[in-house]
Amino acid sequence: METSGRSNMTRDSFVADQSRARISLSRRSNVAPFMALDVLAGATRREREGQDIVHLEIGEPGAPPPRVVREAAIAALDGRRVGYTEALGRPSLRARIARHYRDTHGVEVPPERIVVTTGSSGGFALAFLTLFDVGARVAVAAPGYPAYRNILEAFGIETVTIETPRENRFIATAEMIEAEHLKKKLDGILLMSPANPTGSMMSREALRDVCETCDRLGIAFISDEVYHGLTYGEATETALKFSPHALVANSFSKYFCMSGWRIGWLVLPEHLVRPIERLQQSLSISVPFLSQIGAEVVFDAQEELEAVRTGYAGNREILLNELPGMGFDVLAADGAFYLYVDISRFSDDSLDFCAKLLDATGVGTTPGVDFDRRRGKSAVRLSFAGPDRDIVEAMRRLKAWLR
Ligand SMILES: Cc1ncc(COP(=O)(O)O)c(C=O)c1O
Repeated sequence: METSGRSNMTRDSFVADQSRARISLSRRSNVAPFMALDVLAGATRREREGQDIVHLEIGEPGAPPPRVVREAAIAALDGRRVGYTEALGRPSLRARIARHYRDTHGVEVPPERIVVTTGSSGGFALAFLTLFDVGARVAVAAPGYPAYRNILEAFGIETVTIETPRENRFIATAEMIEAEHLKKKLDGILLMSPANPTGSMMSREALRDVCETCDRLGIAFISDEVYHGLTYGEATETALKFSPHALVANSFSKYFCMSGWRIGWLVLPEHLVRPIERLQQSLSISVPFLSQIGAEVVFDAQEELEAVRTGYAGNREILLNELPGMGFDVLAADGAFYLYVDISRFSDDSLDFCAKLLDATGVGTTPGVDFDRRRGKSAVRLSFAGPDRDIVEAMRRLKAWLR
């Protein structure tokens, strides 16, 4: 076998090669692809080949991190050792995150309950391993973020899908959770607000009801709050206001424009802190030092971050004005930086629709089946996290294509 050629192999030939070598793959590794990332890889490849691509498929900010973040990281590099940190994160960063909850939500969270993680993705892995055994049942909403299911399945945890109705703006309610639990016991539920791909936000009352229902039924509630701060009307609420048992995941990737720094955090009930610390010690030792330095100062960049959010608000207006006239029904749009759009006038195969659109116009979008295996065939997610010129250009190309 040629070892030096491995990087040139396709995934399939690599798998075939492994099977020839009698190395079998685990069943747990057989998770579905995260299509948004596959689409992004395809669009980026075309870009490298010289095609002019407009990225509406990307789930991350187009803006760089605020200036203070870059300056703090550069200063930290200058003559200082970039080493491991405490597994739970630098104490000063944990204290700064606690202050953020006081300033933004008026909630007192002891820094001891905060754990710094490798993006919220790393936080989910730690939380699932700590809360659920193999065979546990955890509910997620559809449409929803596909990586939840993939991580849970890789850990041998059964995912239960709650198909949320459009009439409720795709929001899962306390009643839906209780009904599912009565059919067969749930061990956990994972919800987000604002949501990906719909942007839908739970009202304060809806979030409170979910917290209270989960507490009453003994279901672990994980509240994904990574799109907090990205709203265009109502402000967001944190589950920490309504339950001492809720586990909150958050991230520096979205509002704070630090996606590639791979840093986020968890707020935990006290008794979970030490088990998560033990897992983090062994799984990753610590979160990258420089990212922690940058994250600590990013809270002071309010003005820059708010300017970015104002840009998203403008992009969102452009899309909301343009899309209905072209025949696209916008399914929901409260927060985050996405619109979830009905394409049934044009196609009942969102994968095919996105591929043809990319091929014909160079506009990248994400097929709804990534988020909702059944109903997502007639939906597409558009991200408006890029510059406004990209949004205007995408609408121009889309209009010309449909004409
Ligand atoms: C709803 C939701 N949760 C979590 C994540 C993970 O982000 P990160 O690991 O960068 O914090 C994403 C990323 O797109 C997301 O959309």
